[in-house]
Amino acid sequence: MYSIQEIAPKVYWVGGNDRRLERFENMFPLPNGVAYNSYLMLDEKTALIDTVDQSISALYLENVTYVLGGRDLDYLIINHMEPDHCANIEEIVRRYPNIQLVGNKKTFQFLEQYYSLDMSSNYLEVKDGQELSLGNQTLRFYTAAMVHWPEVMFTYEVSQGILFSADAFGSFGAHAGNLYADEVDDNIMNEARRYYANIVGRYGAQVQAVFQKLSGLAINMICSLHGLIWRGESVPIIFDKYDLWSRYEPENKGVVLFYASMYGNTENAMNALANKLAQRGIRDMHMYDVSKTHPSYIISDLWKYSNLVIGSPTYNAHLYFVMDALLREITVLGFKNRKVSLIGNHTWASSAVKVMQELVGTMTDVEIIGTPLDVRSTLKAEREPELDALADAISESILG
Ligand code: FEO
Repeated sequence: MYSIQEIAPKVYWVGGNDRRLERFENMFPLPNGVAYNSYLMLDEKTALIDTVDQSISALYLENVTYVLGGRDLDYLIINHMEPDHCANIEEIVRRYPNIQLVGNKKTFQFLEQYYSLDMSSNYLEVKDGQELSLGNQTLRFYTAAMVHWPEVMFTYEVSQGILFSADAFGSFGAHAGNLYADEVDDNIMNEARRYYANIVGRYGAQVQAVFQKLSGLAINMICSLHGLIWRGESVPIIFDKYDLWSRYEPENKGVVLFYASMYGNTENAMNALANKLAQRGIRDMHMYDVSKTHPSYIISDLWKYSNLVIGSPTYNAHLYFVMDALLREITVLGFKNRKVSLIGNHTWASSAVKVMQELVGTMTDVEIIGTPLDVRSTLKAEREPELDALADAISESILG
């Protein structure tokens, strides 16, 4: 049976959820599934905002059919051509052959890369700032290149102040009936941050550029393609978070300690340091074993906190490769503006500290706090003064 909600006068959510998918983009764990949102507007003209992933096509098409109630579909607004949203375009065109596909030049380039059916007679190409009247409602298009692909557009409905924001402001997690961020109280900002940092995190400058375009707009509701809808008082809350995240500014003063450890000796050094930090009054600390916790959760916390402590043994005269991969991914994401401390470990030849320093050195505005501690196999009590000095330096950087 169809499953829809009217989210504003004549604007309907027609999306759905996938709780079976193990990993988003086949990489990021989905312990609570994922929502694929699509929206249908009924006016003198009808307009559908994006489609959904192929995994929920049957329900989605039933939703669209039901809300249209026998009317034709005039426009499909294609804000994003990634397959988790564009998978139903051909089927929509086959069902509503008079439809106009609204996109920009890049949209149609990608559409032709993903589809073999010639749909060019349905194209309606729009430019940045162009408007399209549906009758009482007016859609205005804002190009939002690289948030998260180059063809991305945001669509702003002028009369009700609704921003259809493609992937931006999205979150992991399926809906449990409630569509709005203000209706649920569990974990929403953590999953919004994990989504942002891992999916959009590299494109902070582009997010800031779109913010400039949107400044001054009255936005009453933000409808992303994933997760919850932000409305009313939750709009400035998520905007403020996006502003921080896209400027790589930490939300909180606190420490993320993440380590690789084969036999528990590097872990022991990390624990000893965390204990000393706690005794110095540091309160917001989180520790992860990179071989156990999926990197997307660690990366999410890195976006949140001011200080990092990275611990790893030397491995094959280099760096333990799970840590190596994580640090390289953080670099790819353009992560910057943090305070970093290092703990290495080795038994006969030391490389870990050097490689970590090199990798961290490629990041912008990263300050190394304290002298890196290079453990020899196990941390001995005689080296406690060095650990104390490191704890003092980190505490000083947080508490001032
Ligand atoms: Fe949800 Fe960039 O696709």
